[in-house]
Amino acid sequence: MAATIMDGKALAAKVKERVRQQAKSLPRRPGLAVILVGDDPASRVYVNGKKRDCAECGFYSEEYALPAQTSQAELMALVDSLNRRADIDGILCQLPLPKGLDEMAVLRAIHPSKDVDCFHPFNVGELMIGMQSFQPCTPAGVMELLSEYGIDPAGKHAVVVGRSHTVGKPQAVLLLQRNATVTICHSRTPDLAQVCREADILVSAAGRRGLITGDRVKEGAVVIDVAMNRDENGKLCGDVCFEAAAQRAAYITPVPGGVGPMTRAMLMVNTLTAARLHAAEDR
Ligand code: GUN
Repeated sequence: MAATIMDGKALAAKVKERVRQQAKSLPRRPGLAVILVGDDPASRVYVNGKKRDCAECGFYSEEYALPAQTSQAELMALVDSLNRRADIDGILCQLPLPKGLDEMAVLRAIHPSKDVDCFHPFNVGELMIGMQSFQPCTPAGVMELLSEYGIDPAGKHAVVVGRSHTVGKPQAVLLLQRNATVTICHSRTPDLAQVCREADILVSAAGRRGLITGDRVKEGAVVIDVAMNRDENGKLCGDVCFEAAAQRAAYITPVPGGVGPMTRAMLMVNTLTAARLHAAEDR
């Protein structure tokens, strides 16, 4: 079987165009503040992408590029000032933060109504009980891809490889909300290969190149590769051995061009949601 390639780039463009249209009916432009601390080159690339997405969607954006030596107090004061701004709907602090800074304290300080990453414990709690205003961008992007390709998780066995707070755990929750039977695997799972082979929907977010070999993919499965690794030549790649997996899968995401663009598009969806929440509060 030759798999259908799930085109995240094309779907992200569609989602952003929808967001741009919907934003026009708001009383003011949605505003996103992005905080970048230190000079991690990958983070710089991500932040530039987010600013470009804002421009495409007609949003206002502000960047705060702070030196790695920034103190916790300075960072908290910045978040506090952005929380109070009426023209800023979303606040995103790019992770990871340099050593010595307390990420959780920063994430907790962002007002839940401006938490467009959906990383604040309040929003994580709402997600657990299906009451969420926001969905974390990467897992939400995966769900959007499944929907676009007509894949209904209900009754399927979904296997999520990875248990991070940002991807693995919330991905499992979103799949469960859509009535999949969900297994979460991690580094201590005894027979990962066997569990993967049982997956109708296999989402890999382990960050280990070559982890998902062709023989770990069930015939006809949907294979979603969330990881962003680099190969020996510095080229972007995921966890999945793409060519081999595509021989067995019915659907598969490429890296790049699969989940990555969807993560960014869903940030725009969340910023629009935040702007709507704030506009409703103002009425
Ligand atoms: N670093 C890598 N991905 C992300 C993300 O989705 N949000 C934030 N805040 N930092 C990241």
